[in-house]
Formats: sequence, C-alpha cells, structure tokens
Amino acid sequence: LASIRFDVSSVEEGSSVTILWRGLPVFVRHRTPAEIEEARAVPMEDLKDPQADQDRVLEGHEEWLIMVANCTHLGCVPVGESGDFDGWFCPCHGSHYDTSGRIRRGPAPANLVVPPYAFVSDTVVEIG
Ligand code: FES
Repeated sequence: LASIRFDVSSVEEGSSVTILWRGLPVFVRHRTPAEIEEARAVPMEDLKDPQADQDRVLEGHEEWLIMVANCTHLGCVPVGESGDFDGWFCPCHGSHYDTSGRIRRGPAPANLVVPPYAFVSDTVVEIG
C-alpha cells in the first residue's frame, strides 16, 4: 500500500485529523487564515530548520498542512493546537512546533516531515 487517498472535506477549518499512511500517523490540518499568516510572517533566521511555509504546502491549497505525526526528536506524537508557537507541542521532551510544523524550540532537530502528496480533486488528497 504505497499511497492512500483521503477526502478532506469533513475536516473543518481550525481542526485536524490523524490518518495512517504506511503505518505512520499523519496529521491533516485545516489551517485558519490567521495560522497561515502567522507561519508566513516568521523570519527565516528565527528557524532552526529554515524552510518557508510556502515550501511545506501546495500552492492553491495553503490551508492544508499534511505532515508525518512523529516528533523529529525521538518519534513521539506531538499534541496539536498547543505549545508556545500555536502549532504542536511534544510532551516527551518539550519540543514546540509552529503553525507550519517547523521546530521552534526544544530538542527536536528538524521540522515535522511533509510526505509526498497531491490533490487529485478539489477535496481528495493522495498521500505517497
Ligand atoms: Fe518529541 Fe523528544 S520525542 S521532544
């Protein structure tokens, strides 16, 4: 099972779901305009793993943030809508991720991983 399809239409703005892809939990987050704006306002020099929000989402689908749900430190599943940067917080050792899933504070070395994906219709995304 290399890829999966998921219909995002039931995921309301400001909420997330976790789905499974190749045995990995994957977050599908429907971001609010404020979350997108917040992510895009961050200067690159503030980032431990510098990556523009635009490079972590698909143009035209910027509201969808899709990421493997394992902390890049030691793999715990971070908690959404929490932490000091309004994104995710990993309670295992205290890593904070922002609204683009980028590491902002704590021991994790890298941003949450964005898997390969594409929209195959307005509402269906294929991951993998
Ligand atoms: Fe997330 Fe260590 S596993 S901070």
